[in-house]
Amino acid sequence: MLIAGNWKMFNGPREAGVFCRALRDADLGDVDVAVCPPYVSLAEAVQALAGTEIGVFAQNCHWEPEGAFTGEVSAPMLLELGVYGTIVGHSERRQFFGETDEGVARRVESALDQGLQVIACVGETEAEREAGETETVLRRQLSVLNADDNLVVAYEPVWAIGTGKTATPEIAQEAHALVKSLLDVPVLYGGSVRPENAAELVAQPDVDGALVGGASLDLESFAAICRAASQ
Ligand code: PGA
Repeated sequence: MLIAGNWKMFNGPREAGVFCRALRDADLGDVDVAVCPPYVSLAEAVQALAGTEIGVFAQNCHWEPEGAFTGEVSAPMLLELGVYGTIVGHSERRQFFGETDEGVARRVESALDQGLQVIACVGETEAEREAGETETVLRRQLSVLNADDNLVVAYEPVWAIGTGKTATPEIAQEAHALVKSLLDVPVLYGGSVRPENAAELVAQPDVDGALVGGASLDLESFAAICRAASQ
């Protein structure tokens, strides 16, 4: 069971240090825990969490080890900092920064090759779900990925991200079962996970953890989600 906090574009280095030092002392139950700070806060997070089991993940990673790619960061750079893994293909990257299935596949494969753990995100939009295209979309997004011991998929229905509209446990389970039938890897649920709904979501047989956005920015709620998932 993995609970990962996706901080998105929140928490600069100072706030990241304060948060991670408090996280060290928090009661997180018995689950694997990771935080995903913005690039500029990774070093601070790694330092503050040194000697703990809490992993530090980036939010994206370029496929080349170095090169003329303004604004990008590579796997060797992340590894040098002590970063353990990276999110790839988050729906906000796809929606706002034009990332495609092929680009996501390249990032995932090279991050794995270069030694990072990867959380690869998939999920349908509201329009796609309403049009009955959820399965088609998931099949398309997953068709470019290959199972790997260091790969985890996060199923994040776009309509549930930051909206307070969580997928029901039944909807999540159905999608997770499909994902697992296509790719044999652990699958996290993401989309408005809160302390109140975490337990019933992770109780589903094919839900192996959660990728938490908004609720991961508050230490108390993030710790409560971890504890709920550990029961
Ligand atoms: P949310 O975000 O928990 O704020 O809905 C989840 C995510 O985008 O990973």
